[in-house]
Amino acid sequence: MTSKKLPPRRLSVAPMLDWTDRHYRHMARQITQNTWLYSEMINSGAIVYGDKNRFLMFNEGENPVALQLGGSDPAELAKAAQAVEEYGYDEVNLNCGCPSPRVQKGAFGACLMNEVDLVADCLNAMQDAVQIPVTIKHRIGVDRQAEYQPLADFVGTLRDKTDCKTFIVHARNAWLDGLSPKENREVPPLKYDYVYRLKQEFPELEILINGGITTNGQIAEHLRHVDGVMVGREAYHNPMVMREWDQLFYGSSHLPIEYADLVQRLFTYSQAQIQSGRGTILRHIVRHSLGLMHGLKGARAWRRMLSDATLLKDNDGTLILDAWKEVERANRFGGGLWAHSLQRPV
Ligand SMILES: Cc1cc2nc3c(=O)[nH]c(=O)nc-3n(C[C@H](O)[C@H](O)[C@H](O)COP(=O)(O)O)c2cc1C
Repeated sequence: MTSKKLPPRRLSVAPMLDWTDRHYRHMARQITQNTWLYSEMINSGAIVYGDKNRFLMFNEGENPVALQLGGSDPAELAKAAQAVEEYGYDEVNLNCGCPSPRVQKGAFGACLMNEVDLVADCLNAMQDAVQIPVTIKHRIGVDRQAEYQPLADFVGTLRDKTDCKTFIVHARNAWLDGLSPKENREVPPLKYDYVYRLKQEFPELEILINGGITTNGQIAEHLRHVDGVMVGREAYHNPMVMREWDQLFYGSSHLPIEYADLVQRLFTYSQAQIQSGRGTILRHIVRHSLGLMHGLKGARAWRRMLSDATLLKDNDGTLILDAWKEVERANRFGGGLWAHSLQRPV
């Protein structure tokens, strides 16, 4: 376990399958020091019976970092949670919000919201096995269930039967009958007021809100009502949105990272990872940084170069520096290069 004092979960990056792997999290950590980072969902069985290193290893300096588990077998979840703690994660989270048909077949994810006693058993078994906090991420309801009360009953039961204190609420239903996972992040309506009401009725719990939040203004508004805000897709497609979070939401006096500095760190990291002999190739790393120049001139050239299969084939991190040169060139002002202090356009 890390000995560093952990910041509150005021801001966090959502768990996203295939996206929030350790390479993405490394980049995010360069941009914000305090924001909590959540891993992709990992099936508890994969950890217990599979290659633990493959699923749990992460980079130094990544904390505060949480690992999200998928599963519904209390004993297996407990064993997986133990391994999560041993690897140095600061929190283990149980997924009760994933709507994918594959997950439903395994009877976990969002369909667990219909089985609150089983969820309580899972959370208790996990918490009995570890010292780190056990938390839950869930939806506001399942299928066409539109009322507030079943959500309050779900949270209230878990408050009474478990030690779980942190509830991360994706403020829309999961429709398990016919929508794809992608549609399930877009079609069911967002009901932020349900999450605000949870905080009012359960003030002793830590309530984090998630879903459709993209700007610092929106984050500030939500923080008037709940303890924390979790951002998913915007933090992935436009990572520099996190650039001012430490100052705005954690009172940090550090200046936001410069683009040029971040590019240099990405380069250094890529070279080290490729040379580490663990099978990492350049594409595994740079695929998460395609949105880094979002909103800047030259963003398209950056994206094009870093996703060009021919250029990536050499597996040489200097491609990152070459792509950055294109951004610098696009932002050259009357002969004077100002890219070093590039600021986001207002
Ligand atoms: C590609 C992708 C993968 C996701 N994988 C997970 C996951 O593994 N576990 C989870 O709880 N939610 C997952 N989600 C849902 C997000 O955590 C989040 O709840 C959702 O995207 C809404 O937040 P946003 O509007 O800020 O993106 C995923 C979302 C995306 C886009």
